[in-house]
Amino acid sequence: MQSVQMKNKIVITCAKHTSHLLAEEVKALGFPVQAVHLLDVVSEGTLADTMKLNLHLRTAHRVLWLLHHFQARHAEQLYQKVKEIPWEKYLSVHSYFSVSSFVRNESIRDNRFANLKVKDAIVDRMNERFHQRPDSGPLQDQAVIFLHWKDTDASLYLDTSGESIARHHYRRVTVQAPMQESLAAAIILSSRWHPAQPFVNPMCGSGTLAIEAALMRIKKVPGLLRANFGFMHVKSFLPSRWEEMRLAARRETLQAESTFRNMKKNIIATDQDPKAIRAAKENAQAAGVDHLIHFEVCDFQQTPVPAVSEEKGEGSPVVIFNPPYGERLGEETLLEPTYQAIGDFFKQQCAGYWGYIFTGNLHLGKKVGLKTKRRLEFFSGKIESRLLEYELYAGNR
Ligand SMILES: C[S@@+](CC[C@H](N)C(=O)[O-])C[C@H]1O[C@@H](n2cnc3c(N)ncnc32)[C@H](O)[C@@H]1O
Repeated sequence: MQSVQMKNKIVITCAKHTSHLLAEEVKALGFPVQAVHLLDVVSEGTLADTMKLNLHLRTAHRVLWLLHHFQARHAEQLYQKVKEIPWEKYLSVHSYFSVSSFVRNESIRDNRFANLKVKDAIVDRMNERFHQRPDSGPLQDQAVIFLHWKDTDASLYLDTSGESIARHHYRRVTVQAPMQESLAAAIILSSRWHPAQPFVNPMCGSGTLAIEAALMRIKKVPGLLRANFGFMHVKSFLPSRWEEMRLAARRETLQAESTFRNMKKNIIATDQDPKAIRAAKENAQAAGVDHLIHFEVCDFQQTPVPAVSEEKGEGSPVVIFNPPYGERLGEETLLEPTYQAIGDFFKQQCAGYWGYIFTGNLHLGKKVGLKTKRRLEFFSGKIESRLLEYELYAGNR
């Protein structure tokens, strides 16, 4: 059983096919990477360390801190073992908590039954000791306990994120098919872009890709945009330590921002729909990066593409599209000319750039008519998607 000062296993979850990017982020923050799985990265640290991870990570969904690992064959045994955990160290009798889980155990058909057993064990322990009990329910905006139970192997974690950190909390207005913020960050981190290079995002919709790029340019971390995390509702939470971390992160942003102060705006976001551009501007403002992005209402073919600098710096300028991909019957055929026209736009107007198309429709991807350099797999929610990469030379090569 773990004390809050002890280093312990941390499991950081993410979307399918993004764990290698998350692992790089975790390493860059100075944490060890002990394993990289399909849907998570395993590290180690104290409960206080989870604050730093929640503050900085761009591609993560949840940061889980292990409380206790044990064997349980059935629900009654689960109840007994959970009751042995000193919950009073983590939760006050006045707190509110919620339980979520991943369960594959033959005695349980419905996760909710396992959640209920965990909840009962916590509440009964507190009641027996203090004649008072914390409140519990489905909301994840306060303390969150996560149970991972596979066969007889059970682990209980504090979900230090509470609500998922895949959302970066700047989306005020949404348009059709917005991209999840952590996915947009993963796409940019997979590309050849360097934050000093031009970033062009035609068909920007609500602006997620351009906003994530601008945040990266000024090293502004997503946790600065959010006021509430699961760890804040755990007894050992030190608000002064959290404030120090936030201040240090803000200082880094100020420094990075001063580097780009005199740079011409070369993060470009365009869309043919004025409503989308209004939404993108509002969201960028909420993220504090609207001054870094040039917005324009236009057909994607009129998107201004900044000239490529003669001096080759680190990374490359990129053009990234997330076009509609025809979710409804009959739309696919209508979209074929759009994908062809994106290929022409790449060829005719983006020489010297790397071009990217993120699409959930592999058939339409083939209509671009250019040879892909890489085809990276992603999932956008449940939709299998690809990031298609094109090297865009001047002339024929
Ligand atoms: C899938 S959405 C992009 C979503 C975006 N990644 C986000 O996070 O909100 C596709 C966008 O392409 C725009 N679009 C479609 N055809 C276009 C065209 N020919 N020129 C410019 N924009 C276009 C739509 O208005 C829509 O906002």
